[in-house]
Amino acid sequence: MNGSQALLEVASLRISVRTDEGVARILDHVDLRVDPGSVVGIVGESGCGKSTLVRAILGILPRAARVENGSIRFNGRDLLGMPAGELQSRIRGRAIGFVPQDPYLALNPMFRVGAQLMEILRWHGAPGDDPGASRSERKRRHRALLVELLRRVQIPDPDQALDRYPHEFSGGQRQRLLIAGALACGPQLVVADEPTTALDVTTQLQILKLLRALVDERGLALLFVSHDIGAVAQLCDRVSVMYAGQSVESGLTRDVLDQPGHPYSSALIACHPDRSEGFRGIPGAVPSPLRPPSGCRFAPRCGSSSARCSEARPPSVRIAADHTVNCVLQEVAGRV
Ligand SMILES: Nc1ncnc2c1ncn2[C@@H]1O[C@H](COP(=O)(O)OP(=O)(O)OP(=O)(O)O)[C@@H](O)[C@H]1O
Ligand SMILES: [Mg+2]
Repeated sequence: MNGSQALLEVASLRISVRTDEGVARILDHVDLRVDPGSVVGIVGESGCGKSTLVRAILGILPRAARVENGSIRFNGRDLLGMPAGELQSRIRGRAIGFVPQDPYLALNPMFRVGAQLMEILRWHGAPGDDPGASRSERKRRHRALLVELLRRVQIPDPDQALDRYPHEFSGGQRQRLLIAGALACGPQLVVADEPTTALDVTTQLQILKLLRALVDERGLALLFVSHDIGAVAQLCDRVSVMYAGQSVESGLTRDVLDQPGHPYSSALIACHPDRSEGFRGIPGAVPSPLRPPSGCRFAPRCGSSSARCSEARPPSVRIAADHTVNCVLQEVAGRV
């Protein structure tokens, strides 16, 4: 971690949601840092709160959600205190681009692809737009920009592609179109929530390579959410592991993968097909946020837990220069 300002910094975030069965504490003690130009992964099993964190960053939490604690700073400004109008016009879709999980659902089947992408640019404007330009000049410029972007994301015949409907594209091509949409307004940060889960393995790999190439050549930062530790290993400089709504480990990807400090991270890594012999899973399931275990939320599934684990949330222990872990085992190891 360096001393310069983070592009995105989430600190001590706690979010709850009112449900018919009571208050669900979906996020608790979530910390995250994304530096300019870096690629950061968030990894954790289904239900660990990854998408809720993404929604909080984008300012699109459900109405029933309440931010109980913490901050989300982007370029030093707290997004949680930002007026909704400013968040919509200056941050979401503009300074922060978003690539959704399912390219089959994210494009409206009723409208041509070009109309949908042009709408993003009409709303937010494109980098270098001339405020004095006429509507038709601006439209021409936006279309030319989109053709260039579609060429870059390897859509064949980009000019004609803008006049086609979503069903005329494969899933991988649709995801390329959505990546173009996320980049169109010149964001500083792109957030991608499981962008390849709906695609076959070969297409997944191509999309991951494309994302990495695009962020590198444009100097963008990428927040990449996945339950697939293999995808994170391929793409990310840093990784933050979440379990049951909490941050449990973060560090450089190679450090976390080679020397995980939290038993949950070790278990996730061991489950990956490249590392395990035959099918293995982590026994048990992610607890309901309505009734999370006290102390370490992973303790009931952890092979190394002791009575201490359920007393209080383990403190954050720095086990190497840029590697922190929330586990009492690390305290015991004397590495506070
Ligand atoms: N609006 C809501 N009301 C009640 N509970 C919710 C709501 N949104 C999310 N949750 C709960 O919060 C927890 C985290 O959900 P979230 O979708 O953030 O997880 P995730 O890590 O993105 O999972 P996945 O990998 O399946 O996408 C889950 O237990 C989910 O049921
Ligand atoms: Mg999700």
